[in-house]
Amino acid sequence: MGMREINIGDIDMSVSVTGQGRKPLLFVHGFPLDHTMWVEQAAGLAATHRLIIPNLRGFGDSGVTLGTVTMEQFADDLATLLDRLEITEPITLCGLSMGGYIAWQFWRRHADRLGRLILCDTRAATDTEEVRRARLIMAEQVISQGVEAATAPMLEKLVAPSTLAGKPDIISALKQMMIHNPPEGVAAAQRGMAERPDVSGWLGKIDVPTLVVCGEDDGISPPEEMHEIAAAMPQATFVCLADAGHMSPLENADDFNDAVREFLG
Ligand code: MLT
Repeated sequence: MGMREINIGDIDMSVSVTGQGRKPLLFVHGFPLDHTMWVEQAAGLAATHRLIIPNLRGFGDSGVTLGTVTMEQFADDLATLLDRLEITEPITLCGLSMGGYIAWQFWRRHADRLGRLILCDTRAATDTEEVRRARLIMAEQVISQGVEAATAPMLEKLVAPSTLAGKPDIISALKQMMIHNPPEGVAAAQRGMAERPDVSGWLGKIDVPTLVVCGEDDGISPPEEMHEIAAAMPQATFVCLADAGHMSPLENADDFNDAVREFLG
């Protein structure tokens, strides 16, 4: 994907802007990944849609800020990016996992810019105290030991057993994404996720058309939990994808892209 650098105030964001069509689709990657996790959507949807695929603050070649980057800050960055790209029509925001946490905040803070939502392999609940503590420890380890050592244990949790056994290209792509991210950026996002609120109480009010997508083997945001999210939202449809874990857009790209096409009409 060809990347552009766009200044959004205190940092430059690297973003791919491609595709044809009137309906802009903004893709928001998960943690600790980057824009390349959407490679199959860039290939499969560019003929019909304008695709905006950024690296979030602290990821890929985007600028890094130290400390904590909250989900609210990420959402505001995306709104500024849309301003800079002069995209004024309502967008479809498609976010995976951390990208979904950011999507909730985008809805709350920039609802006027949001036409539709696609929520992939994400959660509305906040963390338990144990998970929150583990995030803060990981943030320290990323700085002291490097991204590769600190994030390696995550890798096999991200995908279905069938992907781990039979799709080495996906595993290698995920590894590359992780190790190329700046430690300070990964740590800042991890601290931000530790601070994120429980948004379960918002679900009934999010009345934009929404597609909720989950890999059937997702152990991080399991299908039962995502089904409940969809059931609580007034205009949501739930789709469970075979042969996929937490990385459903990569692991079963064909079915994922079909579901998106059908949803967007
Ligand atoms: C992600 O894929 O973005 C992460 O699993 C999110 C998280 O750590 O909660």
